[in-house]
Amino acid sequence: MRSELLKFPRSFVVRPRRSCYHSSMDAPDTETASESPRPHPTSEDLEVSSYLEESLTPGPSPPSGEGRERGEIAPPRETIVVIDFGSQYSMLIARRVRECHVYCELVPHDAPWEQVERLNPRGFILSGGPASVYGEGAPQAPAYVFESGLPVLGICYGMQLLAHQLGGRVSPSTHREYGHAVIRLANGEPPTSDLRPPTSDIQNRTSDLVPRTSLFDGLPPAIPVWMSHGDRITELPPGFRSLAYSDSSPYAVMANDRGLIGLQFHPEVVHTPHGKQLLENFLLRVCGCRGDWTAGNFIADSILRIREQVGSGRVICALSGGVDSAVTAALVHRAIGDQLTCIFVDNGLLRREEPERVVDTFHRHLKLNLIHVDASDRFLDVLEGVTDPERKRKIVGETFIRVFEEEADKLGRVDFIAQGTTYPDVIESGAVSGQQSAVSPQLSAVTTQHSALGTQHSSRVAATIKTHHNVGGLPKEMTFELVEPLRYLFKDEVRQVGLALGLPEEIVFRQPFPGPGLAIRIIGDVTREKLDTLRACDWIVMDEVKNAAMYRDLWQAFAVLTDSRSVGVMGDYRTYGHVVAIRAVTAEDAMTADWARLPYDLLARIANRIVNEVPAVNRVVYDITSKPPGTIEWE
Ligand code: XMP
Repeated sequence: MRSELLKFPRSFVVRPRRSCYHSSMDAPDTETASESPRPHPTSEDLEVSSYLEESLTPGPSPPSGEGRERGEIAPPRETIVVIDFGSQYSMLIARRVRECHVYCELVPHDAPWEQVERLNPRGFILSGGPASVYGEGAPQAPAYVFESGLPVLGICYGMQLLAHQLGGRVSPSTHREYGHAVIRLANGEPPTSDLRPPTSDIQNRTSDLVPRTSLFDGLPPAIPVWMSHGDRITELPPGFRSLAYSDSSPYAVMANDRGLIGLQFHPEVVHTPHGKQLLENFLLRVCGCRGDWTAGNFIADSILRIREQVGSGRVICALSGGVDSAVTAALVHRAIGDQLTCIFVDNGLLRREEPERVVDTFHRHLKLNLIHVDASDRFLDVLEGVTDPERKRKIVGETFIRVFEEEADKLGRVDFIAQGTTYPDVIESGAVSGQQSAVSPQLSAVTTQHSALGTQHSSRVAATIKTHHNVGGLPKEMTFELVEPLRYLFKDEVRQVGLALGLPEEIVFRQPFPGPGLAIRIIGDVTREKLDTLRACDWIVMDEVKNAAMYRDLWQAFAVLTDSRSVGVMGDYRTYGHVVAIRAVTAEDAMTADWARLPYDLLARIANRIVNEVPAVNRVVYDITSKPPGTIEWE
């Protein structure tokens, strides 16, 4: 194994560990489960592309506020708190709110006020959920939601809770209303009532900002919506009135004068075309949020928070070249410069030219301290003869951690580890309450399979949260404190931050690449020869997809080296070569995916080039399986 320290970090003042995180960036508990994890859609990627040119361009000047002196406390940001009752759409609600440039966080329905208060809440959204308000143990909205005096938007189950807890009546419906519906505003025109909540201690801070306007500003009198509910409201709670009705419900929207609003439908899904406008009206007009949550001020904010947390401590970061770790490293580097050392482990399972490009981009051009460890022999040795996909994952994950630990040990005292945990990692791992930590793909043991279901986090309703491959892989003996600046960002937000930091587009928009790399794209045992064959095929796929300008349209496109051989004929010779499968999928989040309808001539070019340029391969097939029932990767 070759390890190369490309730039020595300057010496550090060693100080006791501490965490100064506050507000939404509370330092997570470093305790992690030892169980490993499932693969994850946002895994790091080291896709081969020509980003060197761009990375030569100096990054933009720091966003305003970034130059603030160390020691300055980051200002509290306003937050909409989404209380999660287990809806499949909870994460979507959070995304929609962020799309309106309002920061929000998802918290479990039993989150204590102390946790919520730290977020500087400006309003609440109660999500939908599978329960019935009358069901045994049905989760209720916490008392502080009503006592705070802040505006509340209850969606579906959230609306039923408002009705139930505030003295109305909710009854089971004879049939479930599911699908498209049209709601009509009461009186046929947008109500002009003032939904402004009463002045309270908390509300004093925003009352001047809350305009006298309604939820339906800018919306037509008849609005197509998406319904999905069983129970329905049959009697409004005192003080509420109906603002809109549908064919099957007189109370499609209800509200009182204190800014408590219930929606029977789902504004967060695309099937409610005006849903975003409605949410925006709630956020900006009813809650009085400023709507100034942007990548630029996130960066300025994060820099302060990172400095507060880290002080003069030393930070390491596992860099893979994928977007999450790249943005993390760039952000932490922007905050603390040479106090950060990145470790890049080449496991020999990467694509062609990846290691060189990572080093060039991050060390030579972005000037990060980078330790490049060529551990390919070590990985390939331990993988020898292994055919089981899960064993491959486990071996790659464990070996990575060993190598990483050894390199970290050589650095002497290290206080913190920065990792690119993102919000979906946190939510899917059930760590929304901030009580669990999520571990980046590079550090995860990357071992368990996709189907691993069911870590239901202690206090939540959602039953189908998956065990996450990004969670729980950090070995117990690694006692660094975590720095997770992207912990509350969605993938598209991570990308915006990456661009704002001046990272090249080729990194920022890189397709995901799994932690176990090409090992899980070679069916059967992994050998150097097969890796070379697959790399050559993969290169051609990437090249052609990019030439066809389809790279950004696809979630992933890659080649798989199957364990089948087939007979062919080339020239006058009979051949008996490998069968290579091409996989290209479109997806929003990799939980589901559709096989991409690549143009025939593109497929033809890929197939021709592969059989002509890669001697070991004589047949190319195209995978037309969607997910489910298939998975994106073959192993
Ligand atoms: P599947 O194959 O489960 O993949 O449909 C969903 C997404 O996860 C990636 N993937 C992985 N990422 N370690 C990772 O870091 C893994 O073991 C792993 N398995 C799959 C896959 O590339 C896709 O984006």
